[in-house]
Formats: sequence, structure tokens, C-alpha cells
Amino acid sequence: MDHNTIIRERRSIYTNMFSGEKVDDRIVSEMLENARWAPTHRLTEPWRFVIFTGDGLAKLGDFQAQAYLQREGDEADPAKQKKLQEKPLECSHVIAIGMHRDERESVPEVEEICSVACAVQNMWLTASAHRIGCYWSTGGITFYEGVNDFFGWGPEDRLLGFLYLGMPKSDRWPEGRRSGMEDKVRWER
Ligand SMILES: Cc1cc2nc3c(=O)[nH]c(=O)nc-3n(C[C@H](O)[C@H](O)[C@H](O)COP(=O)(O)O)c2cc1C
Repeated sequence: MDHNTIIRERRSIYTNMFSGEKVDDRIVSEMLENARWAPTHRLTEPWRFVIFTGDGLAKLGDFQAQAYLQREGDEADPAKQKKLQEKPLECSHVIAIGMHRDERESVPEVEEICSVACAVQNMWLTASAHRIGCYWSTGGITFYEGVNDFFGWGPEDRLLGFLYLGMPKSDRWPEGRRSGMEDKVRWER
């Protein structure tokens, strides 16, 4: 595939579109290698990833359910708790996406978030180019306080969501949906 095709055919493939078959770890390694080449101001390389697969998926599910219960207390909805516990099990791999804040705070935090997003895009493009199902979720425990320890990250680091990976059950790759660029771009000559 040329670069235009890879970029324009990147898609969100959701867990209900996964077959249950495992993604080859070598593809996940390739995704991580490509993440490494994302742009990074002052070369801080702020991306951090934890890959959950095999028994790790249940560990993530258990942690999510427990974090939800702890946060909601008596208000916790058992259906939501169950969903948080079981969601990772629908995937082949779940990659927790972290932003590391370096001690020197070399660049503004927003730049580090942008850099991690570029790394995620590199991974997502790689997955789509291999026709691996992938999407970025900022649901679940993404914006919870006090979850960094579980991922082995420091207090200033930030969880930016999860990449869910799985083999698609259908050969039909979804169509994309975007509006035109006319009202979003202005050329000044
Ligand atoms: C930062 C970010 C967070 C996202 N979080 C979610 C999410 O929590 N749930 C979800 O269903 N999709 C999420 N998405 C995926 C978008 O819904 C998806 O990109 C959009 O529908 C366009 O579809 P496409 O990726 O196939 O082009 C997220 C995307 C980005 C960039």
C-alpha cells in the first residue's frame, strides 16, 4: 500500500467486530517500533505503553472493575462494572497509552500529549495496513485519578486511553466518513 492508501484506509475496528483470533506478537512489535519514530520535541520520547495479552487481559479487567467500584462505591452499577471487567477479554491485545512527564518539564505538557498521539497514529496506521482491527478508546478508567501505579507510571504521567486490538471477523473493511476540508482550511497567498 502507498502512504495515501494507508492513511486514508485507517479505520476504527471495534471489539464487536473482532473474531477472537490472536494478533501475531510480531505485528504488535512492529507497531511499537513505528511508535518509536514519532516526532518528539527535545527528544523527550514521552510515549509509554503497557501491553496486556493472555492472562494480562484478565488482570486489566479486574483492575478496571475494582477501580470503578472504588470510585463509585454504593452508586456502582453492576452492569458497568461487569463491562469494565470483561471488555479486555474481547481483545487479542490491549495497549495502555501513557504520556511520561519528564522531571525537567522540558516542553509544555500539551506537546507531550501531541507527541504520544503521533506515536499512537503510527501504531494505528501499522495495524490498519496489516488489516488488524484496532481502535483508540478513551472510555473506562482513562480519566480516573490514582491509576498510574497499576501501569508502573509516575504521578505526573497520564493515561491517555487504550488501543484495542483484534483480528477482524469480516473481510469487508469499513468505508470511512469525513466531511470536506473547504471550511477547515484557508490558504493565504
Ligand atoms: C483520542 C481519541 C479517542 C477516542 N475514543 C474513543 C472512544 O472512547 N470510543 C469510541 O468508540 N471511539 C473512540 N475513538 C475513535 C473515533 O470514534 C473514530 O476515530 C471515529 O469514529 C472515526 O472513525 P475512523 O477512526 O474509522 O476514521 C477515539 C479516537 C481518538 C482520536
